[in-house]
Order: sequence, then structure tokens, then C-alpha cells
Amino acid sequence: MKKRLITIAVALITGAALLFPQSPVRKLPQATESRIDSIIRMMTLEEKLGQLNQIGGTWYDTKTERLNEEQTAMLKAGQIGSFLGITGAAETGRIQRMVMEESRMKIPVLFGADIIHGYSTITPIPLAEASSWNPALVERSARMAAMEGSAVGIHWTYAPMVDIARDPRWGRIAEGSGEDPHLGSVMGAARVKGFQGDDLLQFGSLLACAKHFAAYGGAEAGRDYNTVDMSERTLREIFLPPYKAAIDAGAWTLMSAFNEIGGVPASGSAWLMTDLLRKEWGFTGLVVSDYTAVMELMNHRIAKDSTEAGIIGLSSGVDIDMVSRIYLRKLSDAVRTGALPESVVDEAVRRVLRVKFVYGLFDDPYRNAKPEKEKELLLAPAHRDIARTMAQQSIVLLKNEKELLPITKNARTIALVGPLAGNDHRRDLVGTWAWVQKPEQVVSVIDGITAKLPKGTKLLYDKGCEIESDSGYRAEQAVAAAKKADVIIAVLGEAQRHSGEAASRSNLDLPGRQRDLLKALKATGKPVILVVMNGRPLTLQWEAENIPAIIEAWHLGVETGNALADVLFGDYNPSGKLPVTFPRNLGQIPLYYNHKSTGRPLVPKDKYTSRYLDVPNTPLYPFGHGLSYTTFHYGAVKVSSAAVKIGEPVTVTAEVTNSGKRAGEEVVQLYLRDDVASVTRPVKELKGFKKIMLQPGETTTVSFTVTPDDLSFYGLDMKRTVEPGSFTVYVGGNSVDCQQAVFNVVK
Ligand code: GLC
Repeated sequence: MKKRLITIAVALITGAALLFPQSPVRKLPQATESRIDSIIRMMTLEEKLGQLNQIGGTWYDTKTERLNEEQTAMLKAGQIGSFLGITGAAETGRIQRMVMEESRMKIPVLFGADIIHGYSTITPIPLAEASSWNPALVERSARMAAMEGSAVGIHWTYAPMVDIARDPRWGRIAEGSGEDPHLGSVMGAARVKGFQGDDLLQFGSLLACAKHFAAYGGAEAGRDYNTVDMSERTLREIFLPPYKAAIDAGAWTLMSAFNEIGGVPASGSAWLMTDLLRKEWGFTGLVVSDYTAVMELMNHRIAKDSTEAGIIGLSSGVDIDMVSRIYLRKLSDAVRTGALPESVVDEAVRRVLRVKFVYGLFDDPYRNAKPEKEKELLLAPAHRDIARTMAQQSIVLLKNEKELLPITKNARTIALVGPLAGNDHRRDLVGTWAWVQKPEQVVSVIDGITAKLPKGTKLLYDKGCEIESDSGYRAEQAVAAAKKADVIIAVLGEAQRHSGEAASRSNLDLPGRQRDLLKALKATGKPVILVVMNGRPLTLQWEAENIPAIIEAWHLGVETGNALADVLFGDYNPSGKLPVTFPRNLGQIPLYYNHKSTGRPLVPKDKYTSRYLDVPNTPLYPFGHGLSYTTFHYGAVKVSSAAVKIGEPVTVTAEVTNSGKRAGEEVVQLYLRDDVASVTRPVKELKGFKKIMLQPGETTTVSFTVTPDDLSFYGLDMKRTVEPGSFTVYVGGNSVDCQQAVFNVVK
């Protein structure tokens, strides 16, 4: 057996940045800061408030001139500092020219847009990209999105969304990286680096915007915009690290969240936006509110009118008011009456101007207004290649009984069934936040499979049913086709509208009559491969018990059909791992791997322990789960020392062998448990991972360097601390099946 020693030191340095409060405080050269001060001194109060005012355009319509008369007049009067959703190199150039030639201060405007997973070349939804556990690839995907966003005149993307989500009822789980702070931090940092590149002044770089600060994913009952109420400990240990990682990766902007946290709306929270973000973390960039979030402080009933909402929002540290125009319209009086110190306005303007300088707009206001770049870059073949690779690696093989997959040449007739298989639902394949995608640009499942069909193999297709309506149910015809086939591929799942913003679901089964269709297909006795396309974990208990092969394909973007066919026919060996837990049923939610022990941890034979009467505590598929067309064997976990002093690192190694018959990639995961501490600690926490490729029979030693930061937590005094005592370390291919070892931390 070949032995290849690879020492893969996963210096969990992200841990350091995450766990200690100091961000790289990024000040601009003094000359620039002085220039900013001099600009502010020349501005009127209305012009200052104009810089804090962002208005929305008609979404991504690049054909016509987009500003109405009122907006044009506001622009020329210096009352607009940035735009949301206006794209098109020619149009953004035209608007900028008006600013530079007709406004008094000639301060360039910023063009922001939601480029979440691609602009024209839509890649898999972020939750799918996170399933690749490949931050370098995710960075490339973000880079490509930034190139396309720059080509259409955008300066600023409202991404990455880094909200931790533990409740799959919440539709926006689709936009993030799942339930884990470490994975979410690594992916958030990768996307920031992808969007901003090595040099923000270069064409192709976009300002990143970590959102939604903070803890938007903690909405009670998974209902969007709902109340968030959690301890500061949970906030700091679980929900805050990805925002901090994004800032440490260089993000110059954040977006404030809609939700309250424990009684204080995020977009009006001075503790969050100033004490924590600016004073503790040293963030020097700007905060933009979410859409009308400033106005919504009245809905939260902490502001009696819009003036008070504006004062609370700006004073808390939310610099730009997205769309509600309260800052512009109400705060000049507030300043004049003394209700709001002008110094507060000046500080917000300083942050906005700082970001505009950082992005080079004062030197080149027209930097991204290059129409020729649109033709060159949008949906470029090289971009499609990235989208296809990203989609391949986003696919998670959940089940593969008797190696039904990959489909071999023995399958002379294949039946392709399901509402997401044909050409009529291509828009659904790109998932949420894919505004400009034209359906004909998406490679459908049937097209992808047809292109890859082995010679002589016949493909039968029937839609079988609609995604959610009962009408159009045609199981009979689908079954008729299925009976003629050697294998059935059922492509089922959610529509684009079922996830993303304002798309919470109280039932996580396959929508409509899709399960009925699946049962009819199973009844034929033919082997069924289920491909699920969705924006969140679904409750697939029946499917898991009755279908021999299940692929989690999420919403994969423009290259869906090709990437799926690559996996189905074995040209790509699936390597994805779940970034989020799949529950058995709704009643288990919230269900996540890094849970606490409780005082009565489950003892199978003891009724009086933490459990349900009607369902196990375990998930259907755990965090980190994902199969391959090969198998991997994990040897014993070894630690560099049985006892390490506080402040010292410890090296953890494990041998991993490809014990199967074909090459494959494995995501080796490292988890830690602080066995006894002064506060309750999770039963397991992801602290590192490494994706490795192994040839059949090959063995590699994977090595992780666990740093003191990884051993630390917020103690009783809410300060970071490392306590002496034993730690259990786990290494495995998911969060459940691990080899483990113990080491002690000593004074
Ligand atoms: C939306 C979303 C936010 C987005 C913003 C601008 O309501 O909450 O994620 O960036 O508005 O479109």
C-alpha cells in the first residue's frame, strides 16, 4: 500500500482572528484621512446626509435610463451617495457622469447590488458551495462573480451573507454556509477575498459586504424577520465569528440586520454597531442598513416617528440608510434642533468617503463603466467552467445502496422523471438571488444527461408532476416510462421561490405530490435514484428508508445539468459534505451537531433523559456527512503530547486510506470537545478540515495544528480563556463517525 506522508498543517489561524477581538484596524494614509476631513468641511449638512442616503433602482434593467426626474434632481443636488440594484456599464457611467459634471461636490456614487452567487454566470447557491468544503474554489467562484459584477458597472456586492442558520425552516439558510461557525468563517473569508481580490483598485474587484449583522439566522421558529433572542455567550460563540472572519479577511462594509437581538433591533443597537464592531473589533469601514431597516425601527416600536428612527439608527453606527430616505429627509432638522450632534453625521460621512477612497473612486469614478467588458466577461466559457466545477463539488452523495451509482453502461434504458428534470423549470435550478438569469442559459438536467448519455443508451422522460400544484399529476404516464427502463432518475425538490428571503416553510417535505410520484416509481420495482434540488435541508425520512440512492444537488446554477451528469455517470466522484444537519422530522428542529450535553444526556434505556417518545435524537443525515464512490478508512488519532501547557499548540495526526476501487476526495474533519469547563461546552466543535485526493489503496497522514485559540471559549466572566483539563479530539469524514484521542492542557 503506497504511503504518502503529507503533513498538512492546518494552522487554524482563522481561530486566532476569530477568537480574539482585534481586527486589523485599517486606517488610510494620513494624507487621505486629511483629504476626507477637508471634503467634509466643504460639505453642507444636506450634502453630508446625501452621502448617507441610498436609493433603489429598478432591478437590473440594463436597457433603459433608470432614474426618474426626482431621482435625477436629487443626484445633482448631492442627495444620493449610493444606489442599489442599478447595473449596466453604460447606465452606471451615465449616472456617474451627471454626478461628476453637475453636482457641487462631485463625490462619486457607489453602485451596490446583490451578487450573491454570480451575476450572469450563476454558480450554486452559497449553501451548496459550502458543501464543497473547498474554500479555494469558493474564492474562485466569488472572484468570477466580482469580474462579472464589475463588468456591469457595480462597485459593491451585498455579500457574503454569513448568517449562521440552525433552523431549515428559514428560507435564507440557502444564502449562507450552514450551522457551523468555523466552516461559516472559512467560507465567509474566502468569499470576501474572492470579491475584493488582492487589490481593490484593480478592475474585477468588488467591495464586499458581510451580512446581516447580526444573528439574522437565529429567527425564532425559522420565520423570516422574526425575533432573535439568545445569550451573549451563544451570540459570541456561534453567530458572531463569521462576521469577524469576514472583517479580518478585509471586508470594508457590513449590512445591519432587520431583526432585534434580545430586545434591541440590530439596526439601532449601539452595543452591536459601535461598542462591539468599532471599539472591540476595531472595524473602520461602513455599515449600510438592510432595506428600510431604519424605518422599521418604528415597527419594532423603539422609535415613535421617523426622525427618532433616524437618530437612533445613525447614532448607533448605521452609516447608510438603504431606501427609507429618513436620514436625508429628517436629520437636518434633528441636527439644527440639537437632537443629533453634527459630529455623528460627520463620522458616518467619513466612513462612507473612506470606502469610496479605498475603492479608488476619487481617482477613477468611471473605473467599472466599461461596456466592452460586459460582452467579454458575462457567461464567458471560462466562467461556465468554474460554475461547473463548483457545482460538481457542491453535490453531496447522501446514500448509495449496492453502489447503484454511478450509472454504468449496463443501464440500456434510463427513465428521467420529475418536475425539475425538464427544460420548463430551468429558472428554478439557479435558486434564490439569481435575478438576471435567463432560463435558456441554464443547462437543464435533461440536456446535461442527454449530452453525456452513453452510446446506445435510451433516455425516456416524463415530468410526472408539478413542483407544488396537484394539477398536472401524471404518475401513470411516468410509471409507464419507468417500467421500460433499467434505472429511474427522479429529479425532485423545491422551486426557486421556496427559499431565500421571505421564504420560510413550516413543512419541509418535498412540496406538492412529489413524494406520491416517488412512491409510484418505487412501486415499479425498478431501482430509483433520487436527485433532490432544494435551498435547505428537507425532511426525507421516507425517501431515506425507501430509495436506494439519494443525491443532494441543491440549486446548482447555470451548469446544473452538466455537473449532475458528471456525477451520475461517474466522471466526477462526489466529494461534498453537508454544511447543515438534515433532521428526521420537523419536531426535532432546531437540531445541530454542536449541541450541549444537558444534565440528562440521552441514555438509550433510561426514559428520564433528554429524548422524544416518537423519534430518535439523531439526525437523518449529520453535519459533515457525504459519501463517495470509493471508501475511506481512518486510522487511530495521535496527539503530539498527552499533556500540553496552556498557550502551547498540539499536533493531531490521523492516517486516512482510500480503501475503495477508485480515486476520490475526502474532507477530513477535526472536532474538539472541552471535556469539563467552567461553563457548558458543546459536545463537539469543528476546528479544522482538509480536502484531500487519494488514489485507490493510498494512505496519507493528515496533520492538524490545534492552537490555543481553538481551546479557548468565553468563560464565566465572558472573557476568552483556556482552562486546564482534558480535551477529546475527533477526526473523521463527518461529525459522527470519528476516531478519537484525549490530551490534557496543564497550567
Ligand atoms: C434585502 C435583503 C438583503 C439585500 C438587500 C438589498 O431585503 O435582506 O440581503 O442585500 O435587501 O437587496
